[in-house]
Amino acid sequence: MIKEKILVIGASGQIGVELTLALRKIYGNASVVASDLREQNPLLEGTGPYVSLDVMNKEMLHVQVIRQNFTQIYLLAAILSATGEKNPHLAWNLNMTGLLNVLDIAREEKIRKVYWPSSIAVFGPTSPKQNCPQQTIIEPSTVYGISKYAGEFWCNYYHNRFGIDVRSIRYPGLISYKSEPGGGTTDYAVEIFHEALEEKKYECFLNEDTYLPMMYMADAIRGTIELMEAPEDKISVRTSYNLSGMSFSPKQIAAAIKKHIPDFEISYKPDYRQAIADSWPQSIDDTVARNDWGWKNEYDLDKMTKEMLDNLKKFLEPAYNL
Ligand SMILES: NC(=O)c1ccc[n+]([C@@H]2O[C@H](COP(=O)([O-])OP(=O)(O)OC[C@H]3O[C@@H](n4cnc5c(N)ncnc54)[C@H](O)[C@@H]3O)[C@@H](O)[C@H]2O)c1
Repeated sequence: MIKEKILVIGASGQIGVELTLALRKIYGNASVVASDLREQNPLLEGTGPYVSLDVMNKEMLHVQVIRQNFTQIYLLAAILSATGEKNPHLAWNLNMTGLLNVLDIAREEKIRKVYWPSSIAVFGPTSPKQNCPQQTIIEPSTVYGISKYAGEFWCNYYHNRFGIDVRSIRYPGLISYKSEPGGGTTDYAVEIFHEALEEKKYECFLNEDTYLPMMYMADAIRGTIELMEAPEDKISVRTSYNLSGMSFSPKQIAAAIKKHIPDFEISYKPDYRQAIADSWPQSIDDTVARNDWGWKNEYDLDKMTKEMLDNLKKFLEPAYNL
């Protein structure tokens, strides 16, 4: 059996922290190296090795890969939708160069598997709003969406041309209690829980009926690892898989929170992120992932809301004085 050695790039971010911890449980602490441009997230401290690494510095990355004999790379470093609209060139540079650096090194060093996430942001105003299928009209209107769509086809190209086993998921908005979101349009669905517990009120930057596809982090981490562990012949999509968890609007998540915190109040003040949200589908059809490698979500809005509130209370008790 091959002894895996895994590099997680962007490990201090919203997904990176939880994915690194989950991979360490499976492969052992020493076999999963966390890396990031910023310092190590405190939640990772003492759980395994960490290296400071800039994915834009190809030489430095290459040296690490050779020195540590990595067999798999998870590339999570990116600039997300809302931040990307503020600095389009920076988003394009990081999202493209980072991916190409990893794919090139994977090719040269014969890395066994690469994971790189895409996003529902690949879809644009001309894509179907409801149950948006795997293959459809894809005309993204944000620089983030453009970079993800281009990235999907680079992954497909490196797979077809060089045999790289690169796998990918189009994540919806991810909701988590451990690490903070990093500048996406769906961040409101995390902020709302913190404000509900701390202030009992929240001013939402999207309007009340903005339905978006979302997923609880536990589902996203499980789905990612299931995809990466699926036999190669089960993987028919080498661009990126649609994956669906739940869809809701700010009004609906507020109502779900009110069941636990009856005096919680929400108000609405849409900003530039409303236009980004309006360009995306409201729900996603993930039949292909279900059929290919058995994807199944476990969390709906009510189950996620209860877990978020219970965990945040435990996790942040001293900060919120609960
Ligand atoms: N969080 C979501 O809701 C969501 C949804 C869809 C897709 N995604 C995708 O998942 C991936 C991870 O997202 P996230 O939410 O964890 O993002 P995040 O912003 O929370 O984390 C990204 C991490 O990458 C690091 N990073 C930035 N530049 C770097 C560089 N040059 N070298 C090394 N590290 C660098 C950052 O310091 C940060 O810790 C991204 O590709 C993102 O596009 C996320």
